[in-house]
Amino acid sequence: MNYEKKIVVSEDGSCTLRIEALKESYHSLHGALTESNFVYIETGLKYWHLNNSNKPCSVLEIGYGTGLVTYLSYLASHAYNIGIEYTAIEAYPLTKEETQLLKYDLLFKGTANQPKHSDFTACPWEKETQVSPNFKLFKQIVFFQNFHSKSKFDLIFYDAFGAHAQPDLWDTQWMQKSFDLLNSGGIWVSYCAKGAVRRSLKEVGFTVERLPGPPGKRHMMRAIKP
Ligand SMILES: C[S@@+](CC[C@H](N)C(=O)[O-])C[C@H]1O[C@@H](n2cnc3c(N)ncnc32)[C@H](O)[C@@H]1O
Repeated sequence: MNYEKKIVVSEDGSCTLRIEALKESYHSLHGALTESNFVYIETGLKYWHLNNSNKPCSVLEIGYGTGLVTYLSYLASHAYNIGIEYTAIEAYPLTKEETQLLKYDLLFKGTANQPKHSDFTACPWEKETQVSPNFKLFKQIVFFQNFHSKSKFDLIFYDAFGAHAQPDLWDTQWMQKSFDLLNSGGIWVSYCAKGAVRRSLKEVGFTVERLPGPPGKRHMMRAIKP
């Protein structure tokens, strides 16, 4: 997917990348940081943590992209004081240069003695890295369609591009794969609120909630494996 990408400053001041050819951005133009925090940290990880007290959490992110959601999860592992094993998969990794243009290190104040976002960019692919006592990161270059895991996950961040750009990734079979990859009680969360995806999630066995979305988006979805 060798499309031209341009930097865009979103409405909360944080940057994201835009692929005009796909009419897609890596995050919401209404606020890249705000959306990532709202959908994946507040509605996903924090919800899981509140319902599972101090249990460690294993996360699968589909679409590592810029690493923003991954970095926010790392910060949350310290804020909530929980251990996180984090697997992030990506089909089309960005170059270091593309990621650096986003200047995410400048977004996070007070992290002088902690790993920075740029340290996450530098983390090798295909190798587990114990980034901090609380956070183990495993970045893999693989299509979700070809991804296999021996262990299951507590939380899936389904952050692929939208259905108009990647219709195949939102089919029932990939919702079934998500279901199979989760532990019982596990949570699937996404910015997506499409009716067809909601029906697919229900069809494969999830209990689905349509929740208020981040700024600029009426709804998002959270699905729980019974
Ligand atoms: C909305 S962006 C993800 C943004 C990311 N979570 C972040 O914080 O920057 C979607 C990502 O999914 C990736 N992607 C597209 N198709 C994929 C596939 N079949 N398997 C895995 N990743 C895919 C894209 O290359 C892109 O990086």
